Amino acid sequence: MAHLEIKQLSKRFGGFTALDRIDLSIAQGEFVVLLGPSGCGKTTLLRTIAGLERQDSGQIVHAGHDISHAPPAQRDYGIVFQSYALFPNLTVGDNVAYGLKSRRKGNAPGAVGARQRVTDMLTLVGLPGIEEKYPTQLSGGQQQRVALARALATSPHLLLLDEPLSALDAIERVRLRSEIKQLQSKLGITTLMVTHDQEEALSMADRIVVMKSGRVQQIGTPQDIYRSPCNDFVADFIGRGNLLVATSQGQDNFKFGQVSLRCASAAHSAATPRFYVRPEDIGLHAITDTPENSFTATVSKSEFMGSSYLVTLEADMGQRKPLVAQFSSNYLEGRPIHQGALLRVSIPAEHLRPMESST
Ligand SMILES: Nc1ncnc2c1ncn2[C@@H]1O[C@H](COP(=O)(O)OP(=O)(O)OP(=O)(O)O)[C@@H](O)[C@H]1O
Ligand SMILES: [Mg+2]
Repeated sequence: MAHLEIKQLSKRFGGFTALDRIDLSIAQGEFVVLLGPSGCGKTTLLRTIAGLERQDSGQIVHAGHDISHAPPAQRDYGIVFQSYALFPNLTVGDNVAYGLKSRRKGNAPGAVGARQRVTDMLTLVGLPGIEEKYPTQLSGGQQQRVALARALATSPHLLLLDEPLSALDAIERVRLRSEIKQLQSKLGITTLMVTHDQEEALSMADRIVVMKSGRVQQIGTPQDIYRSPCNDFVADFIGRGNLLVATSQGQDNFKFGQVSLRCASAAHSAATPRFYVRPEDIGLHAITDTPENSFTATVSKSEFMGSSYLVTLEADMGQRKPLVAQFSSNYLEGRPIHQGALLRVSIPAEHLRPMESST
């Protein structure tokens, strides 16, 4: 049974539809990431689950209880926002204890219990012994760890994270990303995190929900979403890619301008079948080799990215957009990829992925 079940959830602000019939089912202990561009409704969905916004229609069921109309205090979650949202006039210890004190009567621990809980929580997030400090004395990453400790202090069964890493610098972001992930799997707490950073989503999620304009576009594992985007929007939003339009030559063969390629996936029935190719799936060969699905292309631009090169290629494929390939720097050592270089590249049949026709 799902731990959190969202059914046909809709939310309007005046005439604007922020959430449009969202269906989402999250298993116990699962880490689900909501990913989408600014304004697509991610925060609204999180706030509605928290009871901080009220839906116009639809249902939210948490651990078997219908909480659709429950006030926030009666919902069992911890929440961390993008801005650290700690109380600046309270010590770290009092910040973490805040949630414990505001708990429903009968559930709140005594003073000694609360102090122990604060100590435990700060240890859990890797900041033992900083109870007496004030938020302004901490770095952004430390403040966000304290916010996490505060969210977890009441032992909630659902953790809601709204872009918890976006205010941090790149190094701290990556560090805290893996800390949160480790902590989440150690505690086994069902987690819903919002981000608009696709790398964050791919690296942290058990499953990703891609949203656009208040609607769910695709739900799947990071690998599913990356490898088999369901439409152009998801394909564009998750990583770089090449969209190629073909004419069918019968069976598994397709013609892209002057280039013929075989596709290993189920044949397309559309008159102008469309395919998707990830840059790193494009192969590079010696110019004299002729492996299956290979063709020649000219380098129009080559960008060094550190571990790889991003190479823009002009090929006779009848495409409006050039082909973008990614080659590992080690692999390229000594090979000519300067502007104007002629390369033999391939799109292996299993990496030519069919896309649905409509957008
Ligand atoms: N209280 C409100 N009143 C009116 N419109 C709102 C309100 N809250 C959100 N919206 C609108 O609803 C849409 C979704 O907002 P939301 O904050 O959920 O987006 P988001 O996906 O979290 O974006 P971001 O990545 O920028 O945080 C936006 O167009 C926003 O302007
Ligand atoms: Mg938001």
